[in-house]
Amino acid sequence: MECAVVGTGYVGLVTGACLAELGHSVICVDRDSSKIEDLSKAHVPIYEAELENLVRANLKSGRLSFTTDIREAVRESLFVFITVDTPSDDSGGADLTHLDEVSREIARSIDSYRVVVNKSTVPVGTTRRVERLIKECMEEYHEFDVVSNPEFLREGTSVSDFMNPSRIVIGSDSQKAIMLMTELYREIDAPLLVTDPVSAEMIKYASNSFLATKVSYINAIANICEVVGADVREVALGMGYDPRIGFEFLKPGPGFGGSCFPKDCRALIKISKDHGYHFKLLEGVLDVNEEQHKRIVDKVVKAVGDLEGKRIGVLGLAFKANTDDVRESPAVKITRMMAERGAIIKAYDPKAMENATAELEGAGVSFASDAYEVAEGSSILVFLAGWDEFKWLDFSRIKKTMASPVVVDARNCLDPQVLRKLGFVYEGVGR
Ligand code: UDX
Repeated sequence: MECAVVGTGYVGLVTGACLAELGHSVICVDRDSSKIEDLSKAHVPIYEAELENLVRANLKSGRLSFTTDIREAVRESLFVFITVDTPSDDSGGADLTHLDEVSREIARSIDSYRVVVNKSTVPVGTTRRVERLIKECMEEYHEFDVVSNPEFLREGTSVSDFMNPSRIVIGSDSQKAIMLMTELYREIDAPLLVTDPVSAEMIKYASNSFLATKVSYINAIANICEVVGADVREVALGMGYDPRIGFEFLKPGPGFGGSCFPKDCRALIKISKDHGYHFKLLEGVLDVNEEQHKRIVDKVVKAVGDLEGKRIGVLGLAFKANTDDVRESPAVKITRMMAERGAIIKAYDPKAMENATAELEGAGVSFASDAYEVAEGSSILVFLAGWDEFKWLDFSRIKKTMASPVVVDARNCLDPQVLRKLGFVYEGVGR
């Protein structure tokens, strides 16, 4: 089946490559011509497991192509996916400028029946808004349907999440569009939930906000565990065996970040407010999250005293391991907070150096080429993203070069017993 995918960010690129892998003919569109040129040569601008291989293989097979020409892509496709970004606006709501622009361009390009599929995370009611915009901007009327088809892709595992999803949600009132969407995803073995567009839009916000709530909840529990002397990992394990709770998203840390959780929580609070409901629970989730960043800084202060002039080594800058994304990264926020308090910071991340360097420009942070260089002369090492490679570091070597052997492990990714045996002062989260 022929598909156009408009917007080649994380979601668009993964969607395009995976649809091609499923055997469909896919044209990915972006107005950034240098990005399109790079993608046409299989140069993927983000670090995402499997993605580059998938792009290369499907370019080679001829099922995947890239263009800046949205009209051509829409004309050649039955499905038109909208995967543009919807950043937070000043009020916490989603900024729909790009989505509106793309809807108008799609309207001007449609020359026969199309299924317009919205995958961007959008406020409730946006499917109808896109429908209205397309209708208004069409030069000549052609039949079309707009479907809400939210994505649940986690960065770092998004290719496998697309291919093996927990569920596929299709929000539409059109039997024709529902049948075509079902056919499109035929090769994927997953529960298919067909619902109305508004419910589909809510499913996305409700899911991400719930997961964010779980993370803030376990962070709060971790904080209590520290005071009463319990180990949060044992507590989470004991909770997780209850199938009503489950094991997932109960890892305490420096707070959640990334392109979705903070933005989607803020957007759901705003949507609720606009409809007369004060979503106090979700405000609490965001408050706990902000506090959690500060608590990590407090742990560092407790371990080494006033930060002014202290040499601090930071390991991990991405918003979590296995991605190069630093959007709303707790690691970046914590690093900035420590730098503002006068710390002399050297930092390293296996994949997010380029993005973090841009994000922390002017913050007075210097960067190293590996963890050992970060450790040299540092009074403390602060682990802020749980990359696997940090687990296997030679800590005896590290101890010899540090000014004092102190570790704050904000991801609980290290073994305290091993470190303490080597003479380190170790501080984790909730243990
Ligand atoms: C999330 C959703 O999982 C995905 O379904 C949605 O479509 C997009 O948003 P992502 O942002 O890639 O995916 O990351 P995810 O793995 O969900 O983690 C989000 C944040 O929560 C990260 O900062 C992570 O470190 C944090 N987290 C997650 C925890 O602190 N503890 C946990 O147990 C789980």
